[in-house]
Amino acid sequence: MKESAILQIGDQRIELPVIHGSEGGKSIDISGLLAKTGLTSYDPALANTAICKSAITYIDGDKGILRYRGIAVEEFTAQPTPNFVEVAWLLIFGHLPTFSELDHFRDQLTTHELLHEDVRDVYQHIPADAPPMAILSAALNHLACVHKNYLNVDDPESFLEVTASIISQVRTIAAFSFRRSKGLPHMYPDPRLRYCANFLHMMFSSPYQQYEIRPEVEDALNLLFILHADHEQNCSTSTVRTVGSAKANLFSSCAAGVSALWGPLHGGANVKVVEMLERIYEGGMTPQQCINNAKDKDNPFRLFGFGHRVYRNFDPRAKVLREACDRVLPNIDRQDPLLDIARELESLALNDDYFVERNLYPNVDFYSGILLRAIGIPTNMFTVCFAIGRLPGWIAQWKEQNEDPGSRIIRPRQVYVGNTQTGYVPITNREV
Ligand code: ACO
Repeated sequence: MKESAILQIGDQRIELPVIHGSEGGKSIDISGLLAKTGLTSYDPALANTAICKSAITYIDGDKGILRYRGIAVEEFTAQPTPNFVEVAWLLIFGHLPTFSELDHFRDQLTTHELLHEDVRDVYQHIPADAPPMAILSAALNHLACVHKNYLNVDDPESFLEVTASIISQVRTIAAFSFRRSKGLPHMYPDPRLRYCANFLHMMFSSPYQQYEIRPEVEDALNLLFILHADHEQNCSTSTVRTVGSAKANLFSSCAAGVSALWGPLHGGANVKVVEMLERIYEGGMTPQQCINNAKDKDNPFRLFGFGHRVYRNFDPRAKVLREACDRVLPNIDRQDPLLDIARELESLALNDDYFVERNLYPNVDFYSGILLRAIGIPTNMFTVCFAIGRLPGWIAQWKEQNEDPGSRIIRPRQVYVGNTQTGYVPITNREV
């Protein structure tokens, strides 16, 4: 028997269907509410609203579970050589790739890795200290100017090429913005290198000296990108879906995702975490003062890298990253005093009633910056690296929505609380 919910409004009683997810989640279908009752639902920040059905990523925030297409994220990161490109394929196309599918995808990434010279030329003229996330968002939109043949969103033939272009060129753009900020010559991608190795090469090689790629560093970067690859309907992903719901192309939809990710309450938190740890290291505050400031309701300060809308338990990505920091840093002979400070802060917070009562645990951003620093990535590139990792998720969600025959333009409602009708007053009659 189909389950339903009964809603009583005055004398009117209506039945609303209950939808069941494959992992037991339930949702009341209110899509007919307005038509049946004239009422809208009020859910600021959409904290109780499922905006779509999706088969891509599953999260159980109470148990701390994250799965891509049914596979626990830890299974990918525990592989001897974690492979971000394989995970990207899985998310976008729905199954683990065969050898030939993976080879073909890798070929496509290599074929499309060069940035159009016009795009490169335009960004030669921006200020050297321009924020890399601004460059990334603008450059993704700019790709639409030079790949006009990819703008038909309903052309399945070109989808793989557009996807490969974005995933591949985002690395090139990111490395380009970094080198420009340092006044260093731009390095072209090397088609012989794998995805992450190629990014490291474009970031750190110079025309007269090839950067030596250590396998531990390449694996750590793959692990980082995998952990960021998708996270169902978060702020940036729902932004990509909103833009894509208007049938906007993949370049502009992903550019919008980059803009949302930039915010310090979302992807920008990884920068804030390291700034906070650095402030403690430099003696600007003690770990305990940091905790006290975060608890003080009169202080806007937050313990960055803590708390999550969905996880009311450990974020599984934070667990993997903490272990990765413990493993990778000694392996590459790197000591980072910020890691000790992070551990101390974590322990203080996890034993403090304020954080315990609110179920605030470390999120993905708490340890990711320490691993990125160990790899040699500067702080202003952290959120860009998050974006590189998140792209396959954005593309998979955009594709799922675009292929859904039932998908409609996303257009929420509001509760209007402004003036009731009032007359226009000529400027000469207005009181000061
Ligand atoms: N430090 C101090 N207090 C916090 C923190 C924090 N990091 N996070 C939440 N709280 C408190 C809030 O003040 C609130 O307290 P109250 O009930 O007394 O008013 C309570 O915990 C609930 O927090 P909300 O802000 O309502 O939770 P929400 O789900 O809206 O926000 C968010 C989640 C934005 C992640 C929040 O926890 C936060 O700001 N964290 C710090 C920023 C951060 O790390 N962002 C990265 C998130 S992961 C990602 O986007 C990739």
